[in-house]
Amino acid sequence: MTDHNLTNLVYKSRPVPLADGLRVVRSTIHGYGVVTTRAFAAGELVCVGDGVLYREDDEFDDTYALILDGPTGETVLWDLVDQTRWFNHSCAPNTEVRSRWDDAARELRAWWVALRDIAPGEEITYDYGFVAEVAEPCACGAATCRGVIVEDEPAQIARLPDQLRALLRRGASGGASVTLTSPIVAPSSTLASSSDAGGRLTT
Ligand SMILES: C[S@@+](CC[C@H](N)C(=O)[O-])C[C@H]1O[C@@H](n2cnc3c(N)ncnc32)[C@H](O)[C@@H]1O
Ligand SMILES: [Zn+2]
Repeated sequence: MTDHNLTNLVYKSRPVPLADGLRVVRSTIHGYGVVTTRAFAAGELVCVGDGVLYREDDEFDDTYALILDGPTGETVLWDLVDQTRWFNHSCAPNTEVRSRWDDAARELRAWWVALRDIAPGEEITYDYGFVAEVAEPCACGAATCRGVIVEDEPAQIARLPDQLRALLRRGASGGASVTLTSPIVAPSSTLASSSDAGGRLTT
C-alpha cells in the first residue's frame, strides 16, 4: 500500500550523505557554490564524492558530471549527486580532484584534496580543465583568471571560438600552470580527462 505520510517517507528515504565541513551557498562566482565551515590544511582530503555512472552515449543532463576513464580506458561520466555537484571552477583553485576506478566495487571513486591551506568560509574550487568545445566565460575572480574556463594548453586555446578567444586574459597561453589531469564537469561531447590511482585529475 502506498504510504502518503510525509514523515514516514522522509524517515524511510536514504539521504545523500553530507560531507563534513562544507556548506552549499549562493556563490559569488556562479549560481550555487560550496564554502568551508572549517579550515583545511594543504594536502588534506576535503571530501569524497558520490556519483552515478553513465556511458558516454547515454542521454542525461551531464552539466554536473565528471568525465573520467572507465575500467578499460573508455570515457565514462560520473554524475555528481552530493555537495561536490556545486563546486565551481577557478583558474587559481584551492583543490584538485583525483579519481580511480575501483575494480572490486565496479564503481568510480573521486575525491578532492586541498592544494593549499583553506580558511573557513572560502569557496571550494577546482580547475575544470574544459576542452575548447565546452569552454565557457570564467568569472572566478582570481588575479590569474584566464578569462575562459578552458584547459591551459596551447592546443585547446587554439581551438577556442572567436567570441571566447576575445575573453582570454594574460597568462592563458598554454603555459604549465595547470598540470591537473583531470576532471571535468562538462558535456559528454568533450573528451577530457581522467584519472589514475596516483591522483591526477580532471575535473
Ligand atoms: C557543476 S556546475 C557548478 C555549480 C553551478 N554554480 C550551479 O549553480 O549550477 C558547472 C557550471 O557552473 C558554472 N560555473 C562554474 N564555475 C564557473 C566560473 N568560474 N565562472 C563562470 N561560470 C562557472 C558554469 O556554467 C559551469 O558549466
Ligand atoms: Zn577564471
